[in-house]
Amino acid sequence: MLMMHINQKMSLILLLSFLYFRQVTVAQVPRLHPDEAVVVRQIATTLGATLTNPTDDPCQSGKLLVTKTYAIVTEFTEIVNNITCNYNDGTFSHVTHVTMKSMSLEGTLPPELVNLTFLKEIELTRNYLSGGLPKEWATMRHLNKISLTANRLSGKIPVEWGKFANLTHLSLEANRLSGTIPKELGYVNLTELILSANQFVGSLPITLENLAELKDFRISDNSFNGTVPEFIGRWSKLQRLEMYSSGLEGPIDPTIFALGNLIDLRITDMSGPKFDFPKLINKKMKSLVLRNLNMSGSIPKDIWDMGVQKTM
Ligand SMILES: *[C@@H]1O[C@H](CO)[C@@H](O)[C@H](O)[C@H]1NC(C)=O
Ligand SMILES: *[C@@H]1O[C@H](CO)[C@@H](O)[C@H](O)[C@H]1NC(C)=O
Ligand SMILES: *[C@@H]1O[C@H](CO)[C@@H](O)[C@H](O)[C@H]1NC(C)=O
Ligand SMILES: *[C@@H]1O[C@H](CO)[C@@H](O)[C@H](O)[C@H]1NC(C)=O
Ligand SMILES: *[C@@H]1O[C@H](CO)[C@@H](O)[C@H](O)[C@H]1NC(C)=O
Ligand SMILES: *[C@@H]1O[C@H](CO)[C@@H](O)[C@H](O)[C@H]1NC(C)=O
Repeated sequence: MLMMHINQKMSLILLLSFLYFRQVTVAQVPRLHPDEAVVVRQIATTLGATLTNPTDDPCQSGKLLVTKTYAIVTEFTEIVNNITCNYNDGTFSHVTHVTMKSMSLEGTLPPELVNLTFLKEIELTRNYLSGGLPKEWATMRHLNKISLTANRLSGKIPVEWGKFANLTHLSLEANRLSGTIPKELGYVNLTELILSANQFVGSLPITLENLAELKDFRISDNSFNGTVPEFIGRWSKLQRLEMYSSGLEGPIDPTIFALGNLIDLRITDMSGPKFDFPKLINKKMKSLVLRNLNMSGSIPKDIWDMGVQKTM
């Protein structure tokens, strides 16, 4: 039954890719700037991809033509190979988005990326990339989003990463990163910061208080220490907070539960002195998971009337 499903899916993929190749023979965008074409080839090599046609223009084909990848295709594996060149200077195109998801890339992160001057997004989720985070990346003025979720990256977050001018989304989830969170990260105007499932230690730096635009903060499964900072209760735009087994200790400041935009709050496995269940919980809360916390007192009655999906 399952086999049949996969087979059908694979023939569908083959059919779609055939149609896709037929379509893209008509060029709609100017060709990639020759300097960037060189950089793209360097990047492919560093990431561990083998180009099948090094002279292919990724702005025309919309992807990097690479040799077969070996990701195990399941219903949940979304293989994406997408190069977008949304900026042109009148003569040449420039790469703006690089997405290579679940492509079994086994190389390292390319410092050469900085020479794609107009890059806005880099998304390398679910590969086997190892090595460190390149400090050079922080010089990219347009870079908005970095997703390196589920790789084998190690080492520390470089202090240079505090210099990103336009980075809003940073996900480093599920890697082997370690060390403390550099205080410089608090100088980047992030809306999303996802550090879960790594080996980070130390306390959260006080500079993170500056992240007034933060909507999504996840630090589950790390070895942080110190108490949950009170400043989280001042992140007024926060919508999702996830701290499963973060290593941080309670108490959890009551202002955090009351945050007006917080609709998804998950905290589990936290030691520290006993504290009371907060009297006030944001009325718009949709998901609330509080487990194995040193909390006492009664759960406010109205929380059951809110239609909250609760696990306690
Ligand atoms: C490729 O990425 C761009 C920018 O993220 C997106 O607009 C486009 O729909 C994607 N194309 C495909 C075929 O997935
Ligand atoms: C970017 O390109 C310049 C000029 O080709 C080169 O000197 C420099 O080493 C490149 N930077 C990286 C990080 O590869
Ligand atoms: C910074 O990002 C925003 C949102 O994507 C964009 O509108 C703006 O043009 C970017 N600025 C630069 C310098 O790239
Ligand atoms: C941070 O980003 C928001 C939009 O996401 C913007 O309104 C605000 O001005 C930025 N703040 C700084 C200090 O750059
Ligand atoms: C927290 O962790 C840091 C880094 O590992 C360590 O230097 C510090 O002593 C720890 N603090 C406490 C209170 O355990
Ligand atoms: C819970 O709080 C009590 C009283 O503050 C303390 O004695 C106990 O060690 C705490 N338990 C945990 C698991 O932190």
